[in-house]
Amino acid sequence: MAMAHIKPFCYQDIRYALKLLKRAHARKGSRAAPLSRTFDLLVKGGSVVNQDGAGISDIGVIDGRIAAIGTLAGASAARVLDAAGLHVLPGVIDTQVHFREPGLTHKENLETGSRSAVLGGVTAVFEMPNTKPATTSAAALADKVARGRARMHCDFAFFVGATHDNVDELPELELLPGAAGVKVFMGSSTGDLLVDDEKTLARIFSRIRRRAAFHAEDEARLKERMSLQRDGDPSSHSEWRDARAAFATTERLVRLASQAGKRVHVLHVSTKEEMELLALHRDVASVEVTPQHLTLTVPEAYAALGTKAQMNPPLRDRHHQEGLWWGLSQGVVDVLGSDHAPHTLEEKSKSYPATPSGMPGVQTLVPVMLDHVNAGRLSLSRFVDLTSAGPQRIFGIAGKGRIAVGYDADLTIVDLKAERVIDNAWIGSKSGWTPFAGRKVKGWPIGTILRGQTAMWEGELGEAQGEPVRFGEALPSKKPTE
Ligand code: DOR
Repeated sequence: MAMAHIKPFCYQDIRYALKLLKRAHARKGSRAAPLSRTFDLLVKGGSVVNQDGAGISDIGVIDGRIAAIGTLAGASAARVLDAAGLHVLPGVIDTQVHFREPGLTHKENLETGSRSAVLGGVTAVFEMPNTKPATTSAAALADKVARGRARMHCDFAFFVGATHDNVDELPELELLPGAAGVKVFMGSSTGDLLVDDEKTLARIFSRIRRRAAFHAEDEARLKERMSLQRDGDPSSHSEWRDARAAFATTERLVRLASQAGKRVHVLHVSTKEEMELLALHRDVASVEVTPQHLTLTVPEAYAALGTKAQMNPPLRDRHHQEGLWWGLSQGVVDVLGSDHAPHTLEEKSKSYPATPSGMPGVQTLVPVMLDHVNAGRLSLSRFVDLTSAGPQRIFGIAGKGRIAVGYDADLTIVDLKAERVIDNAWIGSKSGWTPFAGRKVKGWPIGTILRGQTAMWEGELGEAQGEPVRFGEALPSKKPTE
């Protein structure tokens, strides 16, 4: 077979690499990893799951980054974590949460939401803009970033909400530090963010460059069918916001994105037909599903949980759930997002339709999905693909999403054999409840390591040290060091 296209590794390359290493080592204070066997942290003996597959390995960390992977038998370290018997995964990134600060902090705030995240093994979150005020300006975004720094327990980025009035500012807003990109509500949900007319959507597409995230439900159809809501009967939520409302808007979204030549991320895909459609448009569209759409079905969920099962887009029946699992098994699904959308139990105890839509989920994403891994519904590698490599690939995250030298030492350490019952007392969210209370699961988050520091170990929290996630398309320029 002709190998001419592969550049042979030549003597010049080796000389150049050695020169770089020597120079790094000679620099005062330098701790260039390959020449050093002293680490800040050594994670020992875990089964590491990454782009190499799975195998027992040690991980050495220096200055918050992964410095070595392999058998590091003779190495010393300031701290050693014994991961024998555990699986060490790249830090789980949850790309859809609502943490409610500012303005709705009786439900959640950035500290409690992120506490819930790390208790559940999540190392970074992308937070949604439907706060009060909504995150639709540079000032609102900067305010959230300032509130999050060293107060949030995990790393974070914030979506900027598109409105009819801020379209011209979006190109600047989407590149600001801490911005995950633009979020568009094409159907109304909690809050008043909504852009559903094609003219404004086309304007948005013509201005932005990054992949934007969309809530796709057909607003006109939702308005038209409002009378299908039955007082006191949350199961009518799934009838009102039906599968056609989701499909019609996802179809429109894909058409507009293709016309504009722009990338879109379709949040919480809930129907079989959307999944089949999206499978045909992998060039422009990336796909999220939630653990709750994969795990709960109607009508059973309404019977068991009442208004706690109410969310947008709604939970669906088994036919649609099978379609989501089909998409997951066939590689159509790119990421899992929890759509952590906390409301208080008091708010949820009103009578439908006065009840708000949404349920907490950031803390239960890992155990609920590991239980599916143990049940054979997806592999552990696919779980890793969906929660770290997937988010990195579609959002262009810089330096996170892999266990690889030079990447942030974000690790989710799990015990695949641990059997526990999820209960409300474990939940760190201010809302204090989970739709999965009482569920027995196999697979549990034991440790959350954020840039080499312990954010959580066996349910105990470390210091809050959250920082903004960085993105390749919006990297800040650095002053030259030499
Ligand atoms: O159920 C939902 N709740 N879906 C959304 O899109 C928004 C969320 C919320 O913020 O409560």
